Amino acid sequence: MKKMMMLAFTLVLGINAMAQEVKLPAPDKKVSTTLFEALQNRKSVRDFTAKELTEAQLSNLLWATIGVNREDGRMVAPTAMNRQEVSVYVATKDGTCLYNPKSHSLTVVSKEDIRPALTGQQKSVANAPIFLVIVSDASKFGNGNGYAELDAGYVSQNICLAAAAMGLGTVPRAMMDREAVKKALNLGERQLVVLNHPVGYPNE
Ligand SMILES: Cc1cc2nc3c(=O)[nH]c(=O)nc-3n(C[C@H](O)[C@H](O)[C@H](O)COP(=O)(O)O)c2cc1C
Repeated sequence: MKKMMMLAFTLVLGINAMAQEVKLPAPDKKVSTTLFEALQNRKSVRDFTAKELTEAQLSNLLWATIGVNREDGRMVAPTAMNRQEVSVYVATKDGTCLYNPKSHSLTVVSKEDIRPALTGQQKSVANAPIFLVIVSDASKFGNGNGYAELDAGYVSQNICLAAAAMGLGTVPRAMMDREAVKKALNLGERQLVVLNHPVGYPNE
C-alpha cells in the first residue's frame, strides 16, 4: 500500500509540475523467474484488474524496455547502428510521462488521460492501470523509416518478457487512435507511434 501511494505521489508530483524530472528508484532487477520460464509463460493478456503497479515494479519494467545496461550508455534493447531512436511513454489515468533511460527518470508530457485513445475500439484492455507507448523516431535514419519499427519490436518483446517474469500481463497492440496519441504527446511528423502495451494484473 505504501509503495502504491508512493507511485501515485510520484506521478501526481510530476504531473503537477510539467516538464519536471521525477527520479525513479534504481531497478533492483530481482525476479526469481528464469528467462526460459518467462518465455514459457509469455502470452497475450487482454483483460486486467485495476490493481496499480508498485513503484519498484514500474522501475524494473521501464528499465527492461530501453534502460541503460552499460557504462557507455547503451541499452538493454538493441537499435540499428545504435541510433537509440526508440522512446517509451507511460500513460496512466493521471497523465503521461516520458521515460528518460539515462537518468532513469520520468518527465511529465501531458496531464491528459490518453488511455482511451490507446484503447481505441478494444475496450477489454481499458482497465489496465498503465499503458507503455513505444515511439520510434524515423528521422534518425534519414529520409526513409530505416529500422525504426523493427527496433521498436525488440522493445515490445522486452516488455512481454519482463511482464511475464514479474507475474504481470501485457499484449503488444497496434490497434489505437494514432493521430490522437500523436497530438496528445506533441510528437513530430517522423515520430512513429508503433505499439502500445497495457500492463497490469491479469483478470483471470
Ligand atoms: C505487431 C503486433 C501487433 C498486435 N496488435 C494487437 C492488437 O492491436 N490487439 C490485440 O489484441 N493483440 C494484438 N497483437 C497480439 C497478437 O494478436 C498475439 O500475439 C497473437 O494472437 C498470438 O497470441 P499470443 O501473443 O498469446 O501468443 C499484436 C501482436 C503484434 C506482434
